Amino acid sequence: MRHTTKSAVVIALLLCATQAPAQTVKIGSVLTLSGPNATLGENMDRAIKLYMKLHQDKLPPGVKVEVITRDDGGPNPDKAKQLSQELIVRDKVQFLAGMTWTPNAMSSAPLSTEAKVPMVIMNAGTSVITTMSPYIVRTSFTLWQSSLPMGTWAAKKFKTAYVAVSDFGPGHDAQAAFVKGFTDGGGKIVGEVRIPLANPDFVPFMQRAKDAKPDAIFGFVPAGKQATAIMKAYGELGLGKAGVKFIGPGDITTDEELPNMGDVPLGVLTVFHYSAAADRPANKAFIAAWKKEYGENSTPSFMSVGAWDGMDAIYYAIREQKGNIDPDKTMELLKQYKNANSPRGPISIDPETRDIVQNEYLREVRKVGGKLENVELETVQTAVKDPWKIINNKK
Ligand code: PHB
Repeated sequence: MRHTTKSAVVIALLLCATQAPAQTVKIGSVLTLSGPNATLGENMDRAIKLYMKLHQDKLPPGVKVEVITRDDGGPNPDKAKQLSQELIVRDKVQFLAGMTWTPNAMSSAPLSTEAKVPMVIMNAGTSVITTMSPYIVRTSFTLWQSSLPMGTWAAKKFKTAYVAVSDFGPGHDAQAAFVKGFTDGGGKIVGEVRIPLANPDFVPFMQRAKDAKPDAIFGFVPAGKQATAIMKAYGELGLGKAGVKFIGPGDITTDEELPNMGDVPLGVLTVFHYSAAADRPANKAFIAAWKKEYGENSTPSFMSVGAWDGMDAIYYAIREQKGNIDPDKTMELLKQYKNANSPRGPISIDPETRDIVQNEYLREVRKVGGKLENVELETVQTAVKDPWKIINNKK
């Protein structure tokens, strides 16, 4: 009898050990899901949800992931900071993620340092952000990565350029990077303007650009509806017909908005890290999975890919720690993260700066099968690290 009881206890203990109680890793995702920029966060959120649905088998046995999603309503640093604080203190998240906007990522950065909560930036692209906390890693891009090579390339094609950018972090970075690339290559800047971020009317700004009679206008505005609005202003003022090329980082021809832009963007040239039209097998598979989930007419954006790859990095850190998340170990792992087969091509995290390393492609908007696409023409540079950090010796 005694013997039986003992073995029953042993068996019970063994069962406990093998069937560990389900363990949940919590991720707090701060995104823009309402207001005029709601599509930006939606495209990130959809990628996060799709990644989780398709990669359950990439988690260790017994480990679950719970994403707690919060809407910051737009570029709103105070609101984003409050949401990040609640996610850390009340919900006890082990990761912060999302961050559609630079000002929102910046206001939350000190919290990630104080609370030691790794923050995976899935969009916000101003170079300085990653220097603001040792617990930040970025899986999106910097504006310097696209706009510096755009300037270098443009200097070989155009003598003069006018620069029009949104008046906040990523706009300032795009401007500085393009001007450097273009003027170092011998080009001349004939005018520069910064456009308010909130509810802009682009027509007067594009009129000023037209009056300066440049060969090309370099523009940056946030992707989504603002990209469509500036494209419309370019079309309405007849700039294309006047022979003025529109160039910029890929935000101005963001894939998901191309169907809303008419034929105006045809011939617009951009440098960027992601095009939904890219024919890499990993991208084809990503697009097919997306369309199966969200419908034939839905197209993921570069923000979707930033979120998709960000989740892949988080899942890697969870796997390597078997679900027991330690913030410092997590950062060590994220610094080593690599993926040879992202939808955008090979990517890695630079361990020195915790910023993304990726290829940059020259693309032209063309009509393919009756639809506008960002057709990749060439890879202008491979394994591009954030140039701003290299030039300014920042880590
Ligand atoms: C940013 O806030 O960093 C940002 C927003 C929209 C973009 C790119 C960057 O298209």
